Amino acid sequence: MRGIVLVNAYIRSPGMLRQAERMAEELRLRGADATIVKNGTFLSILQKNAITYPENCDFVVYLDKDKYLPRMLEKRGLRLFNRAAAVEACDDKMLTCIALAESGLNLPDTMPAPLCYYADAEMGEEYFATIESRLGYPMIVKKSFGSWGMDVRLVENRRALAEAAAEYKMSPHLYQKRVGKPGEDFRVLVTGGRAVACMRRKNEGDFRSNIEAGGVGSRVELPPSFLKAAEKCAQVLGLDYCGVDLLDEKGEPYVCEVNSNALFNEAERVTGVNIAGAFAEHIVKSMAGAG
Ligand SMILES: Nc1ncnc2c1ncn2[C@@H]1O[C@H](COP(=O)(O)OP(=O)(O)O)[C@@H](O)[C@H]1O
Ligand SMILES: [Mg+2]
Repeated sequence: MRGIVLVNAYIRSPGMLRQAERMAEELRLRGADATIVKNGTFLSILQKNAITYPENCDFVVYLDKDKYLPRMLEKRGLRLFNRAAAVEACDDKMLTCIALAESGLNLPDTMPAPLCYYADAEMGEEYFATIESRLGYPMIVKKSFGSWGMDVRLVENRRALAEAAAEYKMSPHLYQKRVGKPGEDFRVLVTGGRAVACMRRKNEGDFRSNIEAGGVGSRVELPPSFLKAAEKCAQVLGLDYCGVDLLDEKGEPYVCEVNSNALFNEAERVTGVNIAGAFAEHIVKSMAGAG
């Protein structure tokens, strides 16, 4: 069985490289021949009306977010872990909310901003008054596409809301109710439909619990309702592997975000669970027709 671990063309982050190496290592331990390949090698192109694809490859562990190459590979029948549609739905935070809505999960109240085509456009009184009356302060403003907490703002009043709205207006973004305790969330890693590891992320100096924003991971035992919520997210979105971020609102899990290519290094370190191994096991079983 031959597989490719596909990473971003311009990969720099040591954490991401390590992720790919861990996956290749755990796949090889399970008898699969795994090679790390960068997206920039043009694995697949459209030529003479046909899509070319890599020969001698049975599956792809897709650790990037680019949406074109995975669609091309799937069109040629390759099995991707995760699948293209699932990666796309997770990459766009608003699409994730829409996909998860009405499935029995708790989600923070969320309002997508309309697209804006003019840099000098102004949002009026009605715009801000509607957001305020639906969500209340403090609220969260975030870009639909973003990572590491970089494009997420906590706003406490009209002035800060107007500033964030003006700053983000040319990018898809959303307004969201703030839930849970500031700076704290729970990351649950799910693969093969099962929650295999979880950790608490806490940032004492910021409302964002991202490790990259200064959050610190620690071991935690979560109630079954949290683990079930994470597993439900993976099931609804059709993910083979993901990291689900849950906020704790009065003991109830609220879905903050679902990461299709969640880095597992910190979670492996904190929990001692072989997360790459569990993901590799799921891949090998699925390819053998048993999973
Ligand atoms: N609705 C919310 N209520 C409370 N905290 C939030 C909310 N949305 C985001 N956060 C905080 O901000 C962090 C980053 O937000 P997230 O949506 O996960 O974006 P990113 O993709 O940048 O990680 C979260 O881990 C959480 O700590
Ligand atoms: Mg996040």
